[in-house]
Amino acid sequence: MDAANPRIRDDAVRVIFLGPPGAGKGTQAARLATRLGVPRIATGDMLRTATLKNTPLGQKAAPIMEKGNLVSDDLLVALIRERIAEGDCDRGFVLDGFPRTLPQAQGLKDMGGDPRSWLVFDFDVPRDELLRRLSGRRWCPSCQATYHVCYEPPKSEGVCDLCGARLVQRDDDRESVVAQRLHEYDERTLPLVEYYRTRSRLLAIDGNRPMDVVFADLLQAVEVRA
Ligand code: AP5
Repeated sequence: MDAANPRIRDDAVRVIFLGPPGAGKGTQAARLATRLGVPRIATGDMLRTATLKNTPLGQKAAPIMEKGNLVSDDLLVALIRERIAEGDCDRGFVLDGFPRTLPQAQGLKDMGGDPRSWLVFDFDVPRDELLRRLSGRRWCPSCQATYHVCYEPPKSEGVCDLCGARLVQRDDDRESVVAQRLHEYDERTLPLVEYYRTRSRLLAIDGNRPMDVVFADLLQAVEVRA
């Protein structure tokens, strides 16, 4: 695909995960992408990796992410345009964390593919449960695997099962930053639910259930679509 002007194929698998911070998007997007054999494109992970490597993108994103705000639409659209032009996305991809504003949704639409065949999962989880999940989340800075100290603990405390790196708490999972992330979600991402309701196949997902139960719903939706 041409990186400057990628054209998403109409027969490619295209899934979007919407939902507030901590709803389980990343957990489920990783499982679904593995099952479908397509890449998971997680903008939060891409930005955190850029920050750890201190790249120009990371230097721009870090101070914004630290405050719980959204990074600029132009940067994110360019990041996705470049990523989906890579060969492993030819058969499709699962988007985790993008789009999350109306201009980003418009940017994605401009990359091609019939919007009616996008499958959009909209996760709903009560706020008190979101806070429990975020405060107990642990993250692997090396391979980006996610755990929870109670709900999904690693086999050995503080150590990634997959790569053996030491797990950390994300800086933006601090209580004061979480409040701002939820505010950004309400103000700028929630309008996407209405946007996709009329343009694509939007499915409301009750994310306040065990992980395997949620995943079974997603699989069923994907099979119905196929
Ligand atoms: P990002 O990393 O995308 O964060 P987010 O959207 O706030 O979502 P989270 O990663 O916090 O939660 P999640 O829903 O993936 O939950 P998870 O599966 O981990 O973005 C971070 C920042 O980057 C943004 O604030 C912004 O600054 C920037 N950014 C990223 N994309 C951007 C964009 N497009 N535009 C602009 N800026 C952007 O689960 C949470 C915890 O719960 C885990 O511990 C997990 O083990 C546990 N858990 C999951 N499911 C269950 C379950 N069913 N039951 C019990 N526990 C569960």
